[in-house]
Parts: sequence; C-alpha cells; structure tokens
Amino acid sequence: MVDMTVTYAPSHGLGEEQSIWFKLSPLLAQENPMQVLMRLSDKYNGIIPVNLKNQRIVLLSKPEHAQRVLVENADNYTKYFDGLRPIFGKSMITIDGALWQKVRTPQQPAFHPAMFEQYFPYLMDSIRGKMARWEELAKSGETVEMVEETWTLAADMVCKALFDREMPFNPHFIFQQVKTYTDVGNHKSIRLHKVNGELEEITQGDVAKAMEVWDGVPDSVIGSGILEHREKTLLRMIEDAANDPDFPEFDHRQAIDEMKQYLWAGTETTALTLAWSLYLLSLHPESRERIREEVRSVCGERDPEWNEVNQLTYTRMVIQETMRMFPPVWALIRIAQEEDEIDGQKINPGDKVVVCTYILHHSEKYWTNPEAFDPERFSRERMKKRAKYSYLPFAAGKRACIGGALSQIENTLALVQLLRRFTPEYVGEGQPRLNATVTLTPRGGLPFRIKPIEAGA
Ligand code: HEM
Repeated sequence: MVDMTVTYAPSHGLGEEQSIWFKLSPLLAQENPMQVLMRLSDKYNGIIPVNLKNQRIVLLSKPEHAQRVLVENADNYTKYFDGLRPIFGKSMITIDGALWQKVRTPQQPAFHPAMFEQYFPYLMDSIRGKMARWEELAKSGETVEMVEETWTLAADMVCKALFDREMPFNPHFIFQQVKTYTDVGNHKSIRLHKVNGELEEITQGDVAKAMEVWDGVPDSVIGSGILEHREKTLLRMIEDAANDPDFPEFDHRQAIDEMKQYLWAGTETTALTLAWSLYLLSLHPESRERIREEVRSVCGERDPEWNEVNQLTYTRMVIQETMRMFPPVWALIRIAQEEDEIDGQKINPGDKVVVCTYILHHSEKYWTNPEAFDPERFSRERMKKRAKYSYLPFAAGKRACIGGALSQIENTLALVQLLRRFTPEYVGEGQPRLNATVTLTPRGGLPFRIKPIEAGA
C-alpha cells in the first residue's frame, strides 16, 4: 500500500504569522472577543476593514452582506482554509468550483433525509453508551469537561451511523490532539506576541505531533470491525468514489481527507451545540423541565421511535436557540477573487472577507432582546417574521453545511435521552468566557457534574 502519511511542517500552523487567526489575534485574544467585535461593528456601521501590512481583512455583519458573499456573488468568494489543512486536508469543505461539485456529488446521497431513518438506531446506540458512562459519573460525582463528553458522543455517532464502524480510537485522546491544534490562542507564536501565559503554551512541535496522530485516525476507522455491512453508508460512497477509475481526482488521499473532514466538521460543531445547550439548560431549569415533559408526552416512558423525532419540537427550538447564542462556526471566511462592492465598501481581489455570524445572531436590529435565552423565537409563527440571512448557523447558499439537518436530529435525541435520566449541572465559576478561533469554544471548558434525575430534578 502506498504510504500516505503526511508530515505537517510547522509552517502549516494555525498560529503562524501568515494565518488569519494570527493576524486577528489582537482582536480575538481579548477578554470578551465577541463584545469587542460587536462594538466595532456598531461603530463602523456593520463593516470593519482591518488593514494590515500587506493585506486586508474585511469583517461583515449584516444580512445583506451574507447574502452577497454566500449567495448572490458566491463564485467570487472562494474558501479560505490555509491554516486548517492539517485538520481537513484537501476535503470538499476546503475546495471550490467544478472540483468541489464533483467531490460533493457522490457523498450527497448520505445526507438525503430518507437516509436518516437508517441512522436512527445507531444514533440511539451511541446515546445509550453515553448514558451508561453518565450512570458511573453520577455515582462518582466527579467533575467532567462537557465539551469533551459531547465530542466523544458526536464522534461515536459519525463512526457508527455514517461509517458503519465501531469507534476504534480513544476519543478523549483524539479530542486533546485536535484541541492542541485548534486552540490557537495557546500557540506559542500568538502568546509571545500578545497574551500573558495563563495557560500552558503549545509549541510547534506539539502541534505537528498532534496532527500526525489525527492523520492516522481515518485508517484506523477503515481498519476497524465493520458493524453491519450496510450497503449504503457514507464510507462506502467515499470508497466507491476512490475506486472509480473515471474519477482520478478522488484518490485514496481524498478519501482519507473526506473522513477527517467528517470526523471534525461533523463532530466539533455538533458537540459544541449540545454542550452549550446543556449549559443554557442548567441556567434555565424551567426549559429543561419542558423538554422532559415533551418527551414524556410524545413517548411516555419508552425510548423515542423514529417517527416521533419530528414531534420533539420544543427540544429542537432549544437547539436552534443555542446555535443562535453560541454559533459553533462564528465566522465564515472567504477570499475575494475579483473586485466587488458591498454596502458601499470596495472589496479588492485578495481581500479576506469574514461574515461574522455571531454579530448577526446577537444584533438588536434582527432579534428582540438578543442576549436572552428564548427558544420560542424559533416557533413557526415568530420565524416567519425573521429577517432573511440573519440566522446562519449552517451558512447559506450552495456551500451551506451538508450535515445541518442530521446534527439537529442527533442533538434532539441526545438532549431528550440524557435529560430524562440525568440533571447535568454547570459547576464553573460564573459565565464562561469565549474563545473565538475556528469555532466558538468555552475558554477553559465547561465543567459539569452529572446528577441522577431524582437528586437534581
Ligand atoms: C451543529 C452542527 C453543525 C454546524 C453548526 C455546522 C456548521 C457548518 C458551516 C457553517 C459550514 C459552512 C462553512 C463555510 O462556509 O465556511 C459547514 C459545512 C460543512 N459541514 Fe457542517 N455543521 C454542523 C454539523 C455537521 C455534520 C453533522 C456534518 C456531517 C456529518 C457536517 C459536515 C459538513 C461538511 C462536509 C461541510 C462542507 C460542505 C461543502 O463545502 O460542500 N456538518 N458546516
């Protein structure tokens, strides 16, 4: 077999000087980076041009800006994923044009709603595994890191439902490796420039090592025991494309990178949403109780069945509200290919354009009392009144998330099942601070204690 090992030289790093994350670090490493961006957005009427030595980054924050970049003139704004190569390789999330379409087409059927019923038992199986672990945690009373808990659940769901495999790797270890890379604020290069060393600094060597471990994950999945030899799984679709002699671009490396993409894009985002929703529900016990009542009224005491998932409407609204308040992908980054004009601002070829989802989601122009947790804003009635492109957790246009609908099913099931048995209680000190890197994560994590429902309900 051809050795496909890739060694990631430090120059690929997210924290490297040429990376957009490095350049924005003076803004993003603030105590409350999102408040800073919101204030700047107000001051500059929604467009914040950041002029640097040899390039310009333009931060955008109005629905019409998102419409221009993601939909109307989408072909002019190509993907920017340079610092993320070690995470995503050359997978479809990173590429554009005809090749992107060609790579996406054979995988698209795995995300057709008709497939979700097939995935349902596997999702439930993963949740049962998590419940068994939480039984133990409820007995020991130990404090756990919630993002790590939900990350391991989401990774198990991807492996079982989409790849037809048991999760062969230790997800806690892999989670740490990925964080070593994506928590750019801890990278030594950025810390040296900006921040006092409150956390342990991560060196280039640590980063390269972590990414080598990550690169080995897909092969370990392919080599692990097949669960049920299902004929139509995402992994089969990827393998078929890689074996298709008429599709030379989709080689073994492409297959590995597609898997890495799912193991990150389908895991990190889903996990953050579930973790943030448990945080919000810990602050809003009345909402947690409504979820319990909803599942009781739909399913009684038994587990949900597939045809009942759509009836768990309040639970789904909680998830949607969570993604409004804490959009996992808080910024959509593109590079302008040709000149354009957005809202009176000239955009030059080469400008990096950043659609700030977080600002859109928290603007008083589009949301009443935006800092309040109010799942009902996603009721059918109120949604009709919402400004188009003011809510973009999955982006918009042709490059919108392929797995958005699936993630909401995963998280709906996880929430109802976990909450009917447990009361997860946030035990951090005060409001978590935000870490705005590739995703919006809680700085220092979300510490929780898991209580059995009798004790905490
Ligand atoms: C709460 C959960 C999720 C959120 C918030 C989310 C968000 C997003 C966003 C914002 C994008 C567009 C990125 C950009 O334009 O730069 C995206 C793309 C993508 N997502 Fe998701 N995602 C979620 C779950 C998933 C799941 C479950 C999967 C698959 C298992 C998935 C797979 C992908 C892929 C493959 C793309 C690239 C699509 C393309 O470029 O054609 N995502 N996601």
